[in-house]
Amino acid sequence: MPHYVRLGQVPHKRHTRFPRADGALHTEEVIGAEGFSGLQSLAYHLHPPTLVDDIGDPVDVRVEYVDEPFLRHRHFKGLDVTPHGDFLSGRVAMLGNADVVLHVCAPTDAMPEDTFYRNASCDELVYVHDGAGRVETPLGTVPFVKGDYVHIPRTITQRWVFDEATDADGTPIQPRLLVIEAPSEFHPPKRYRNAFGQLLENSPYCERDFRPPSELVTRDEAGRFIVLIKKHGHLYPYVFRYHPFDIVGWDGQMYPYAISIHDFEPITGRIHQPPPVHQMFDAHNFVVCSFVPRLFDYHPDGIPAPYNHSNIDSDEVLYYAEGDFMSRKGIARGSFTLHPGGIAHGPHPGTTEASIGKTETRELAVMVDTFRPLMPTKAALGVEDDGYAFSWQPEKHGHPLPDAAPVPPSISGDLPASPADAAR
Ligand SMILES: [Fe+2]
Repeated sequence: MPHYVRLGQVPHKRHTRFPRADGALHTEEVIGAEGFSGLQSLAYHLHPPTLVDDIGDPVDVRVEYVDEPFLRHRHFKGLDVTPHGDFLSGRVAMLGNADVVLHVCAPTDAMPEDTFYRNASCDELVYVHDGAGRVETPLGTVPFVKGDYVHIPRTITQRWVFDEATDADGTPIQPRLLVIEAPSEFHPPKRYRNAFGQLLENSPYCERDFRPPSELVTRDEAGRFIVLIKKHGHLYPYVFRYHPFDIVGWDGQMYPYAISIHDFEPITGRIHQPPPVHQMFDAHNFVVCSFVPRLFDYHPDGIPAPYNHSNIDSDEVLYYAEGDFMSRKGIARGSFTLHPGGIAHGPHPGTTEASIGKTETRELAVMVDTFRPLMPTKAALGVEDDGYAFSWQPEKHGHPLPDAAPVPPSISGDLPASPADAAR
């Protein structure tokens, strides 16, 4: 993140004596990216973070993609993935490439008290579709609720704890997460920032919306603490002698945080705005966008539904979180659609006409656009809606062919036209 945070105790000057209560020195650690030239934080441990007593056998967790011709629009039903496991073991990879992997996770179990997870290769951006709780890290605790994005930079040890809660009917709430894992950093797009990194007035969110760790809990405990470190597609069980949360203070710009999708202020216009107005984060070779409830276009003859488009250079994934997505039919909560580059996609039959005159949408969705092709996994094929590629056939929607579809009357005659419109 481009802004500075400080939590707990740090010495007045970096790299100077900082004694513990017993007179011995704290251990300083730089947690930084890009060889000391990227974002970093400086942390102070009670004990050396290098004290390892054992390393268990690595566990292969490489993602296996289905090697098949797949140039077609696809729909995967994410909610059909059976809940199981904990925050880590419950992950099911659905789509991915060398730049990003998209997992769903519906955990039913807690991670053991003495076990932690650290992704040494990838940053993780987790969209909380359902559930609430907290992420415990050595840099402090990040509480989260439904609708939050939680960003854990790589190398930050983490442990997720979910609240036990019920909905209004008394049904236990099953946590559901969309995990976006990437070997690059997630940043606000450059066009939202000034030359100094500060978010601009016309950015759809600002620094105040980011929620860094709010509480630093320092654990001075000896024992056997297992950190499952992910690297090279394997989990390495490292056994540390001291509790990994032994930091008494830190400062810098590398830290976990949460930001709500509801804090993304939509950018709207008189006519349909293109998908980049929904962009939330930038990463290497892909972007993350948030489609949030918003007012529709206000040109009197505007068509709120999107136009058909061919993504020549990217594959487009939409994860549908809430509400009716105005341009799609047959899509449910937790659905993924994959619209690969090179073939056009657009509104389903009837949705363009139906959108005219509508003033707002309550849709909520996360979009990931990649610049290299995405591949599905076997698990994704297990929850695929096979007919999706042909779902634009008008007869499947009980709708006349487009040439014969009725066109709603113009309402511009009832409204003042702009000088430019009047001149046409
Ligand atoms: Fe699209």
